[in-house]
Amino acid sequence: MLSIALPKGRIADETLRLFKKIYGGDFAFESRKLILTKGDFRFFLVRSQDVPTYVTHGAAELGICGKETLLEQNALVTELLDLKIGRCKVALGMRKGERLDPSISHLKAATKMVNIAKRFFAKKAMAVEIVKLYGSIELAPLTGLADAIVDIVETGETMEENGLEAVETILESSARLFANRDSFIERKAEIMALREAIVEVI
Ligand code: PRP
Repeated sequence: MLSIALPKGRIADETLRLFKKIYGGDFAFESRKLILTKGDFRFFLVRSQDVPTYVTHGAAELGICGKETLLEQNALVTELLDLKIGRCKVALGMRKGERLDPSISHLKAATKMVNIAKRFFAKKAMAVEIVKLYGSIELAPLTGLADAIVDIVETGETMEENGLEAVETILESSARLFANRDSFIERKAEIMALREAIVEVI
């Protein structure tokens, strides 16, 4: 039995569709249940940011979440495969028409991804105050809470509808399959067989 932590939402749905394609049958969580056991697999339904936690602690051998989450958390896992789903980018967003001025003495940026934001501004040698938020990041520049945001852009609609634009791409992301480092050593054959089966269907 292999346990796999999945992030609630579209990536979980698409992953279960892949399993259905590989093994047949119905891979679906029952209404409010957070565990799905099917064949040789056990799936856990968790918040995206919690997937690396389940895997690094060994509560799940495998996990799937966005590359940006792994980078934000510096997750010590073995990355196995780019699933090419959940594609998005992390971008610097500013009010339409504004541009980042690296010579500015002080800037406030709001984000959920504090570490990615810090690394981005550090590379530019900019002194930036990072304001941690948990959602609706696009609201920050509209209310004066921040001058800029570092956020996920998928279609770009949220920024567009809130009078913002992506002025710089910080990183490109997509969903990754990864393993607990010890589990990967101990159960390499099983894990690699699953990886190969997934490669066949994507
Ligand atoms: C993410 C992100 C943006 C939005 C981008 O938010 O933080 O707000 O999606 O998508 P778009 O470019 O297609 O408009 P999410 O839906 O995760 O909600 P949150 O703000 O509550 O985190």
